[in-house]
Amino acid sequence: MAKRALITGITGQDGSYLAELLLANGYQVFGLVRRSSTPATFARIKHIQDKVTLIGGDMSDQTSLQNAIIQAEPDEVYNLAAQSFVQTSWSQPVFTGDVTGLGVTRLLDAIRFVNPRIRFYQASSSEMFGKVQEVPQRETTSFYPRSPYGVAKVYGHWITVNYRESYGIHATSGMLFNHESPRRGIEFVTRKVTYQVARIKLGLANELRLGNLDAQRDWGFAGDYVRAMWLMLQQDEPEDFVIATGETHTVEKLVETAFSHVDLDWKQYVKQDPEFMRPAEVDLLIGDASKAGKLLGWEPSVNFTQLVHMMVDADMALVKEEMRAESVVSD
Ligand code: NAP
Ligand code: GDD
Repeated sequence: MAKRALITGITGQDGSYLAELLLANGYQVFGLVRRSSTPATFARIKHIQDKVTLIGGDMSDQTSLQNAIIQAEPDEVYNLAAQSFVQTSWSQPVFTGDVTGLGVTRLLDAIRFVNPRIRFYQASSSEMFGKVQEVPQRETTSFYPRSPYGVAKVYGHWITVNYRESYGIHATSGMLFNHESPRRGIEFVTRKVTYQVARIKLGLANELRLGNLDAQRDWGFAGDYVRAMWLMLQQDEPEDFVIATGETHTVEKLVETAFSHVDLDWKQYVKQDPEFMRPAEVDLLIGDASKAGKLLGWEPSVNFTQLVHMMVDADMALVKEEMRAESVVSD
């Protein structure tokens, strides 16, 4: 019989890639979605919407999570839902703590009550390492979060470990470093850069305003990272894993790589703007994913330059499409 999976955050970047992967692996896929007052477009999963079952609910609402688990009868639950934008976590710290942190307990408790044999994946983050205590960061590195988001993720990590140890649930925390794609939200730095590079190249804009150009991140491709999530839940014993490329680059290098891909000099367009500086910064992230390599056989297939080029190419096509649509409307 086909395995069943419930994905919270199915409408997000990772949720869409994971849903595709699980469908390709023969799963019956269920996804938790929030109500919206405007018609929901579910843009990232439009192409597979007829193949998945969407269930209404919210990470802040215990009953809806319990109902989703009763309805989906999943073998595996992937908790990807979160207020995931670090900058917003300073302006909405309590909301972030509720959804990104406490939401994990709500879901784990629903699993405990409905069926403790369900396998659980928690989307933990390299933001937990924050002001890093060790380079590179690995599963045993101490946490030092630097944002309300990072603090909420530390809570989510430890409650996952705690439910594993308290109740014997097959619960895994995946400590994933930054991962990107053409489906990345427009507010995150990679996509903000690649989308604006396309607009500048096509004559629709003439500057790109950014914050800290010195921060270093270990950027990988989201498609590779959802494969790691699935592999983690196929292990006989639940364990926690770091997923990363093992390479780090500055935001400046990202900018240079994106602009040069379309033969532009970034220095002519990029302006620093205090609006995009953070109250506390995570200066350097670089992960050691050797445990995942050894136990899961996981390794990344897309490197930094390929990733940036993939995203610029996709945004060039998207902006051209937007220009065509606009010219049809104005005709
Ligand atoms: P994303 O694109 O921002 O997607 C977040 C998802 O969570 C969306 O589907 C969103 O639904 C949903 N959501 C937000 N608040 C919710 C609530 N109260 N109830 C139910 N659903 C809610 O994030 P992502 O990049 O795919 O990341 C997936 C997960 O991995 C997140 O937990 C993130 O914190 C974590 N993570 C990401 C990275 C990364 O680099 N991408 C690295 C480490 C960890 P709407 O569409 O309705 O907004
Ligand atoms: N978003 C953004 N916008 N970031 C900027 C900008 C800007 O204009 N200018 C510089 N940056 C810097 C940020 O200060 C940060 O150091 C870096 O670019 C990356 O920022 P984001 O792309 O917003 O990602 P993040 O690293 O804060 O968080 C992402 O990765 C985490 C894993 O480490 C998110 O996906 C989190 O959900 C995830 O947990």
